[in-house]
Amino acid sequence: MSAPNSDYDPVEVTPLRADEVERMRDEALAAIAAADTVEAVKQARLHHAGDRSPLALANREIGALPPQARKEAGQRVGQARGAVSQAIAARSVAVEAAEEERMLAAERVDVTLPWDVEPVGSRHPLTTISEHVSDIFVAMGWAVAEGPEVEAEWLNFDALNLGPDHPARTMQDTFWVKPASAAMVLRTHTSPVQVRTMLTREPPIYIACPGRVFRTDELDATHSPVFHQVEGLAIDEGLSMAHLKGTLDHFAEALFGEGTTTRFRPSYFPFTEPSAEVDLLCHVCGNVPGVVETCRTCRGEGWIEWGGCGVVNPRVLVACGVDPERYSGFAFGMGLDRTITGRYEIVDLRDLFDGDIRFTQPFGVGL
Ligand code: DAH
Repeated sequence: MSAPNSDYDPVEVTPLRADEVERMRDEALAAIAAADTVEAVKQARLHHAGDRSPLALANREIGALPPQARKEAGQRVGQARGAVSQAIAARSVAVEAAEEERMLAAERVDVTLPWDVEPVGSRHPLTTISEHVSDIFVAMGWAVAEGPEVEAEWLNFDALNLGPDHPARTMQDTFWVKPASAAMVLRTHTSPVQVRTMLTREPPIYIACPGRVFRTDELDATHSPVFHQVEGLAIDEGLSMAHLKGTLDHFAEALFGEGTTTRFRPSYFPFTEPSAEVDLLCHVCGNVPGVVETCRTCRGEGWIEWGGCGVVNPRVLVACGVDPERYSGFAFGMGLDRTITGRYEIVDLRDLFDGDIRFTQPFGVGL
């Protein structure tokens, strides 16, 4: 720094010359104008308004001027520094606003876009119907029972009054499990769960058993080697066919809605006597004359086949260790797959087993 000198000509102190101050100011203003981010403005402030900026250094030279020259030089430098700091302030406001604008644009969310682009899964109708059926019986105080899918021949057939030579055995085309001497089958129906329950529990017995069953049918639009049934069994004192009818009517109404009734047709099953086929009132035409004749759902029948039922044959009770003098009971078995295809007018049973989500989707997640 130069020493005070009364004859000192301020024009000679280069950093304080008007053109030099102007140049430093213009350089600063250009740098500020070019700063287009908050960080760049910070750098421009450091270089052009900081303690070691050219104008700050020039300012320090003022003290070295003779007193008469200081005022003018001070004003010049002061104005230049003022202009620079104003420019910085204005620029930083502008840059911050622009940055915020950019951020808002980048984070912009279009709330009108569809939000459910990820498809929601849905439950298989066989799962939901099995659960619904179980719920209906549990609500009546019944228990849900289960049995194995690989079953003893004796439980699947013999105990149910289907002896080795019984012609009805051939009605159920059976998958035998090797070796033959093991006398094991893939259960052909859920009825062996009746036997298992009677063998292990004392009456009164009220059970429903939904489950998977197997028969050597070819897979086509109306048959499948694997399908589903629900079995029901009630054993108590004084049970009759009337209780069976009342139970099935309630079951049908609870499953399909008020007004759904059942009808019995005489039939034969070795494990029940008397036996009946149970039909559901057609949910489309309601068997109403004038409508039923052209109904395609029940093919003009007014009724849709649902399952088999009857009063438990005393021979079955005896085989299962239940005293037929004291107890009686009723049983029923329905195909769940056919219940679904009939209800929803699914023409091809295979749709139930293909695992195509486009099939299950319309059934949703609830029932
Ligand atoms: N088990 C029979 C079948 O698969 C269905 C059936 C009929 C079950 C009558 C029953 C019954 O419990 O009583 O064809």
